[in-house]
Parts: sequence; C-alpha cells; structure tokens
Amino acid sequence: MARMEVDGKFLDFPEITGSENEKAIDISKLRSESGYITLDDSFGNTGSCRSAITYIDGANGVLRYRGYSIEELAEKSSFIETAYLVIYGHLPNREEYDRFSDLLTAHEMLDEDYRKHYEGFPRKAHPMAILSAMINTLGCYDPEHFLDEDVSHFDINAARLISQVRTVAAAAYRMSVGQPMMYPSPDRLYANNFLHMMFSQPYKLFEATPEVTQALNKFWILHADHEQNCSTSTVRLVASSGANMYASCAAGVCALWGKLHGGANQAVVEMLLKIQESGISVKDFVDKVKRKEPGLKLMGFGHRVYKNFDPRSKILQKALQKMLKASGQTDPLLDIAQELEECALRDEYFIERKLYPNVDFYSGLILRNIGIPLNMFTVMFAIGRMPGWIAHWKEISENPKQRIYRPRQIYTGENLRSYIPLDER
Ligand code: ACO
Repeated sequence: MARMEVDGKFLDFPEITGSENEKAIDISKLRSESGYITLDDSFGNTGSCRSAITYIDGANGVLRYRGYSIEELAEKSSFIETAYLVIYGHLPNREEYDRFSDLLTAHEMLDEDYRKHYEGFPRKAHPMAILSAMINTLGCYDPEHFLDEDVSHFDINAARLISQVRTVAAAAYRMSVGQPMMYPSPDRLYANNFLHMMFSQPYKLFEATPEVTQALNKFWILHADHEQNCSTSTVRLVASSGANMYASCAAGVCALWGKLHGGANQAVVEMLLKIQESGISVKDFVDKVKRKEPGLKLMGFGHRVYKNFDPRSKILQKALQKMLKASGQTDPLLDIAQELEECALRDEYFIERKLYPNVDFYSGLILRNIGIPLNMFTVMFAIGRMPGWIAHWKEISENPKQRIYRPRQIYTGENLRSYIPLDER
C-alpha cells in the first residue's frame, strides 16, 4: 500500500508488482477520492496497462518476448516462429507452426483490384503513406472476417496482415520505381519471398544469399515487439475504442513514421551520408550535436527506456559485420558509424545523459547493404513490428475489463469569455 497526503487528507493506493518485480502504484482512484489527476507529460513515468507480451529492463539492457531473451531468439528462431510466439504466447509445436505457415502462404496474394489503389498514388508518394492507407484497405476486402468475434477469424486476420503487409510493401516500392509488381512465390520462405517481390524481374528471378536472408530475419525478429512504445501505444489506444485490427495497425504505421521513432533508421543513414559527403570529422560532428545546433541530434542514440546499451543494436552490429564479411563487401558508412559510437561513448555529454546506440543505429546499414532503398527503411521496421501490434490488439480485444483509453489533461487556456460579433473585434 502506498500512502499519499493530498490537501491534508491521507489516501492509500494499492502497490502493483509485475512478474519481474517491477513496481507501480495504482492511482486509478486518485481523482474520484481527491479531485486531483496525475500529470506526466509524454508519459515518461506512466504505466498505461498490464501486458504479458514483452519485458524490458532498460537499466540492464534486457529485452525478452514472452520470457525468451532476444539474443536467443535472434540466434535460433525465425521471424515467423517469433511472430507466432509474440502473438500466441508460446513457441509453436510442429503442427501449429505448419498451420500458421500455411495460413501465411494462403493469404500472401493481394486481390487484383488492389492495383487500382496503387495507381491512385503519385510516383513520389512516401511508402509509409501508401502502407498505412493500404493496410486499412486490406480490411475492406474481407469485411465479414474482421467484423465478427469468431476466434478462427482472428487467426486468419493475423496471418493476412503479417503476410500481406510484405506484399503491399514490396508492391509500393515497385510502383514507385515504375516496375511491374511481382507476385509472391509460395515456395519461398518469408524473408526470401519479400526480397523476391522487391528485386526479381519477370525475366530474371532474384536469389538472396543465406547470409542476407539470415540478417533480414534477425532484423525483423528484433523489431517484433517493444512493449508500450509510441506506435504500439497508438495501436492499443485505437483498439481500445473497438476498432478492428487493420484500422488499429494502420494507425500504428502512422505513429511509427516519425523520425524520433521508426523513421530514425532512415535518419541515421542520412546522417552518416551527410558526414561522409561533407568531409566533417566525427569529432566535429559530435561537438555540433553537443552544442545542440538546431535540428541536430546523434540519430540512433538515446532511448526513453534503455539507459544502457539497447541489446538489439549489438546483435544488429554483429549481423551486419557477418553479412559484409560473407559477401566480401565493405561499407564506409559502417566505419563512420563505429567511429561515432566510440567517440560518443567516451564523451561526458553522452555518458551523463546515459545515451547509447539504439536499435536504429546499425539497422539502417543492414538494410542499405541488403539493397533496400532509403525511403523503404521505416516500412521494413513496420513489417517487423506487425506481430507486436497484432499481439497488443489481441490483448486489448480479449480483455473483458478493457475500457476505452482516455487520458485527462490540465487545461491551460482562456477562462470563460463572451463572444464578440465580427465587426466589433
Ligand atoms: N543526441 C543528442 N542528444 C540527445 C539525444 C541524441 N540522440 N537523445 C537525447 N539527447 C539529450 C536531450 O537533448 C536531453 O538533453 P538535456 O538533458 O540537455 O535537455 C537528454 O539527452 C534527454 O533526452 P530526452 O529528449 O529527454 O529523451 P527522450 O526520452 O524524450 O527521447 C529519444 C528519447 C526520442 C529516442 C531521443 O533520445 C532521440 O531523439 N534520439 C534520436 C532519435 C532516435 O534515434 N530515435 C529512435 C529511438 S528507438 C525507436 O523508436 C525505435
């Protein structure tokens, strides 16, 4: 029990303990008992829900999905198996895995009418805009499935979204470069199939190396969920109103787009390119960041929750090095990134603020070396995050006690005033 004194009155609030011993105070009765609300701008200290999907210990750089460490999953699992784990809460047995995999294959094609929607977008439309619009559109093609509460329809909707988001994303890219859309190939595994739809030509099929598909699997595994981040909280908020899975996930895509969130993977590579092209030294660039020159941050550094290394960045750095070694390629941007990292980690500005590389610091370089164009980077993040958004939608939708999300505010505007007719103003 936690005790608070408000206006001379003592109020008791239950203490909540999570399964990893995290502590919270349940203040849901504060307003009804005292007239006060809590104010926590940007939710830096607000637990918005109880969730059994992902555990993060930001002080020690720990990330687990459903109890499994991210390091072990990245090493041993595939994106599809991890997606199943995140959504359903356990690793699938052979039968469950095959069923899930068959559902993904059965739903990988888009309705042919979909082409007309693509034709409505200008060539230069950002693929994130196309993705969010198209995810909502997917729901329109099978409305009877998402509108009822039959559990097997959840399975179909989840599989459709995971499978088709990849088809939609690749098709958006093909349209943007004026190339024909490639149909998915049922013989290819998830990552390989995506790369085929991105890079095959009708006259020449694309074959990715195992190192490339492994790196892409790791990239997606590491993006599969990250508890109550900006886009997932958006998905939960929209879902809490009773909105369907497609609408909720489309909202998640919009939230992810910003450069402080999913857009950071693109922003990191743009930053590295600028450093390379301008010839500025890494030290001088870091000094500019420290002077807080307008609009300048060390992109891919810092995190609301991790006050230590983001464990995903270490795994991705290794995956990138392995992929480059296998192909015999080098990437001058990797050298700049590593120098930046070393410089920042030695610098008092970053040390005292506990700013470490986050998931985006190396993820963009993986994508670049796979050949993914820059404006598709955040789309790649969205494909990976889909299982997490679906799992959170499920958690909200299956909670019989779920209420609509509705934060309060402290009003700071004008007090009551009288309307003045237009001519007298
Ligand atoms: N470069 C320079 N300074 C930084 C950085 C950075 N990347 N990140 C934080 N700081 C500074 C802030 O200016 C602030 O300094 P001050 O104390 O002198 O005012 C201090 O560190 C605390 O930062 P906040 O902005 O309060 O941290 P917050 O938790 O609100 O933001 C965020 C976290 C958005 C990730 C921030 O660190 C950032 O903008 N990083 C760069 C963008 C990025 O990489 N985003 C991806 C995040 S991971 C993801 O969403 C997938």
